[in-house]
Amino acid sequence: MSDFKGKNILIVGASSGIGYELAKNLIAQGATVISASRTAPQGLDVQHIDFDALTASGSELATITALDGLAYCVGSINLKPFNRLSQDDFLKDFQLNVLGAVKVIQNTINALKKSETSSIVLFSTVAVGMGMGFHASVASAKGAVEGLAKSLAAEFAVNKIRVNVIAPSLTDTPLAKNLLSSPEKREASAKRHPIARVGTPADIASAAVFLLSDQTSWISGQVIGVDGGMGSLKSL
Ligand SMILES: NC(=O)c1ccc[n+]([C@@H]2O[C@H](COP(=O)([O-])OP(=O)(O)OC[C@H]3O[C@@H](n4cnc5c(N)ncnc54)[C@H](OP(=O)(O)O)[C@@H]3O)[C@@H](O)[C@H]2O)c1
Repeated sequence: MSDFKGKNILIVGASSGIGYELAKNLIAQGATVISASRTAPQGLDVQHIDFDALTASGSELATITALDGLAYCVGSINLKPFNRLSQDDFLKDFQLNVLGAVKVIQNTINALKKSETSSIVLFSTVAVGMGMGFHASVASAKGAVEGLAKSLAAEFAVNKIRVNVIAPSLTDTPLAKNLLSSPEKREASAKRHPIARVGTPADIASAAVFLLSDQTSWISGQVIGVDGGMGSLKSL
């Protein structure tokens, strides 16, 4: 396959989990992948930029002159009862998930405007659409990501830049390791999903590939659940 031949895609968070799988998939399809995160992805042929979403200004990305797509795969799972969440927890989740994406988009928008088919993919969580206990901080931040994406989708449509969001449920990545740390936890998590398993990085990455591809050139402003039916179906 070479759907992405000649395309430049920036992945923020390609060193692990969903972003890593996405990078692998895009490279296999001919894309040039630029990665940005605190550590470089191992074993992938990417151009890497050191980037900490919490402390960077965003100008670190100024060397990128032309882009066809961007995926911001940075995120957090900071689950606590509301009375144990500090205001700093909320602030940090907002900085990582929302302001990090804002910095990246603000510093790459001119590069994205150079392509006729640019696509931006952001990540939310199933917990925004359905209330889930202990998710107050992450759901607040990811809810803001969804609002950001819809606003930007409207604003950038004139430039043919699409903006969409993937809302995963529990996916087997290093981010979710505490939630999947024993066979019992894994089984209980699987059972909560109508399609009775947790997600794999490939489940989520393939949806991101689809949204970055020209096959979705008329899809913008959408939040797409990739969640084993969790966000919209009732188990039998
Ligand atoms: N896994 C799940 O169950 C799940 C569920 C719902 C939503 N999501 C969302 O899906 C997306 C991908 O998550 P994942 O599970 O693939 O996570 P992951 O395996 O922890 O990967 C996160 C990536 O983000 C990078 N990153 C983290 N903090 C960063 C920072 N301060 N600055 C720059 N890069 C940073 C990491 O690289 P470095 O450490 O090298 O910086 C890593 O490449 C996230 O937005 C997450 O919220 C995941």
